[in-house]
Amino acid sequence: MKKSIVIFGASGDLTYRKLIPALYMNFRKRRLPADTQIIGFSRRPLSDDAFRDKMKEGLLAFVPAEFAQDEWESFARLLSYHPGDVEKLNDYLALAGKINSTDGEDADGLFYLAIAPKFYPIVVRKLDEARLLTPMGKVGYRRIVVEKPFGSDLQTAESLNDELLKVVSEDQIYRIDHYLGKETVQNILVLRFGNAIFEPLWNRNYIDHVQITVAETVGVEHRAEFYDQTGLLRDMFQNHVLQLLALVAMEPPVAIEANALRDEKVKVLRSIREIPEEMSSRFTVRGQYHGYRDEPGVNPHSETETFAAVQLFLDNWRWQGVPFYLRSGKMLKEKLTEIVIRFRRPPLQMFDVLSGVTELSTNHLSITIQPDEGIHLRFMTKVPDGGMMMRPAELDFHYSETFHETPIPESYERLLLDALNGDASLFARKDEIGLAWKFIDGIRRGWIGEAAPALQPYEQGSWGPPGADRLLWKDSRWWEQEDTLHRSEGDSGERTVP
Ligand code: BG6
Repeated sequence: MKKSIVIFGASGDLTYRKLIPALYMNFRKRRLPADTQIIGFSRRPLSDDAFRDKMKEGLLAFVPAEFAQDEWESFARLLSYHPGDVEKLNDYLALAGKINSTDGEDADGLFYLAIAPKFYPIVVRKLDEARLLTPMGKVGYRRIVVEKPFGSDLQTAESLNDELLKVVSEDQIYRIDHYLGKETVQNILVLRFGNAIFEPLWNRNYIDHVQITVAETVGVEHRAEFYDQTGLLRDMFQNHVLQLLALVAMEPPVAIEANALRDEKVKVLRSIREIPEEMSSRFTVRGQYHGYRDEPGVNPHSETETFAAVQLFLDNWRWQGVPFYLRSGKMLKEKLTEIVIRFRRPPLQMFDVLSGVTELSTNHLSITIQPDEGIHLRFMTKVPDGGMMMRPAELDFHYSETFHETPIPESYERLLLDALNGDASLFARKDEIGLAWKFIDGIRRGWIGEAAPALQPYEQGSWGPPGADRLLWKDSRWWEQEDTLHRSEGDSGERTVP
């Protein structure tokens, strides 16, 4: 059966850096279905060969170790280019000639929208007019993959959904959140539901609080204009950070299957307690790195946040009263995505702890999503030859050690394959997107209200503004990065609450 992958925005960065390398890797691993063709659609006039040359350049730049000339030559034969204007029906009709089979056989089509969001509705409408969204034959499929951002608030996300759902059904839409394609994000499910030892402890009876950090060392890079209109909350929290929260906090799904999984994630998002506007400064922090306003393309008076920290509660049986502290920012000290589950102290402290170790004497489990993918469990242990003195020790698992022969694949590799195979488990459903926006919109209202927290500047290369530390200090807690693991030699780890 003929299968076509059409990439709208084929001359853009995403295609060059991520999509074609991911398709090439799937091809190398013999995972692309036979009879696949990959068509790049874009306005720029390019010949098939010029498009292939450009894509080859991308492979050499982004997956150099995987490049093999003979593989490339076979892969390049799948690639072609279709110059076209997204607003012109004729260009879609010509595309249809390449996709549909002439003999009425089934022909599958996956349309990837790697274009500016304002064009999503128009592309989908034109695809429909050209009858490209109606499956041919009995078993063929037609699907669309939509990149983020999916709207810029609840209202725009809803109207985008309405537009798309006028022409396709929900099960034809694959909304990308590339964090869900990360192996270690999927491993949250395996850790929680593939083991018996964690789940009994995974609740308010044993967990003191949860921290989620998504830190980046880069600034706005080449996207200043977009970023300045968007800000961190909408760029990172609405999608990636809240998806991590949902996976950590969800109930066990009845099966690892798209709707079962997404039903459980939706329940978590529904249970997030709204942050009232007047409590905004207590539960949220917004920051901007020094020098942001001098970045080319940024408004010199910009009030856009490049850092956000939020404390939230989930109003459900499992998590009642357990704080979740979430933070994300640009230009921070390390590139790090990590979830830390900090357990309660034992009910009775029977043993002396090594001098100064106080808050540190709790168990914790940290799930490092990137870059040093792994899991670390901290427990207390007896100091040898030291009476009954105890101190923390760690059990460590690093993907790079245990699976050194299998490098971690890029998230787009898995996501593209799943979209081709019709598995929507790692894609966001309409209701997830809506609930996430509802929460984010509430925070944003608080940020312009009377009790709005001040925009706090922070040093590049720091862990964000001081307010982010205070968010935990006020509850006598600390971010993980201030804690033992990152403690320098000779530092006892003692912290005082200011
Ligand atoms: C994107 C954001 O969704 O995720 C970027 O738009 C951010 O601003 C990127 O840099 C981070 O992704 P990763 O996979 O490098 O953590």
